[in-house]
Amino acid sequence: MSDDIIIAPSILSADFAKLGDEVQAIDRAGCDWIHVDVMDGHFVPNITIGPDVVAALRPHSDKLFDVHLMIAPCDPFIEAFAKAGSDLITVHAEAGPHLDRSLQLIRSLGKKAGVSITPSTPESAIEYVLDKIDLVLVMTVNPGFGGQAFIPSQLDKIRAIRKMIGARPIHLEVDGGINADTAPRVVAAGANVIVAGSGVFKGGAYADNIAAIRAAAMRARAAAA
Ligand code: DX5
Ligand code: ZN
Repeated sequence: MSDDIIIAPSILSADFAKLGDEVQAIDRAGCDWIHVDVMDGHFVPNITIGPDVVAALRPHSDKLFDVHLMIAPCDPFIEAFAKAGSDLITVHAEAGPHLDRSLQLIRSLGKKAGVSITPSTPESAIEYVLDKIDLVLVMTVNPGFGGQAFIPSQLDKIRAIRKMIGARPIHLEVDGGINADTAPRVVAAGANVIVAGSGVFKGGAYADNIAAIRAAAMRARAAAA
């Protein structure tokens, strides 16, 4: 795996009235991936976007679409999100009883597969699917909303998962309350993919915000080396 830090702005914090323009803007501002938060009002207490919106956004950027499904059940919708142009589809370990099957389904559709765990779920939840995933997403807030405060107890979990991953080519992503202050802490703990919603979209200075988060993360990476 490359040593690079990957910055994935969450379009949950974008202006939903002009989402295509917003995706183009974060692409131009230097993001690496586009993080798409899908919520169903059932698994999480909020509703956002569906596969048709992902398909509509697809022509607006060539960058990797990192689609975070906060929906239960997830299996009935995975194919639609794959066809819509997702590159990487992440499901929650808590979203159903058959995580292994969901991950197999994602890979059978030719997509990269991710598994996410909420703050109260222990790292052991992913132990037996490590050979079926391309990414682990550690939620550093309770999923459902942008703009929440980072939960520091997740740092130990990030460290533990970095150890579990070992030499496997698996990304370790963090999502929730990440900004230039918290990014160094999660990177020092072992994260290499940083999702940031309000941290990127605040004040409209997307390029500056992305650069500040990246610089803070790279400093922590260098200090840890
Ligand atoms: C929360 C979402 C996050 C959220 C992050 O359920 O998964 O991607 O948008 O927003 P911030 O960075 O504002 O915490
Ligand atoms: Zn997310």
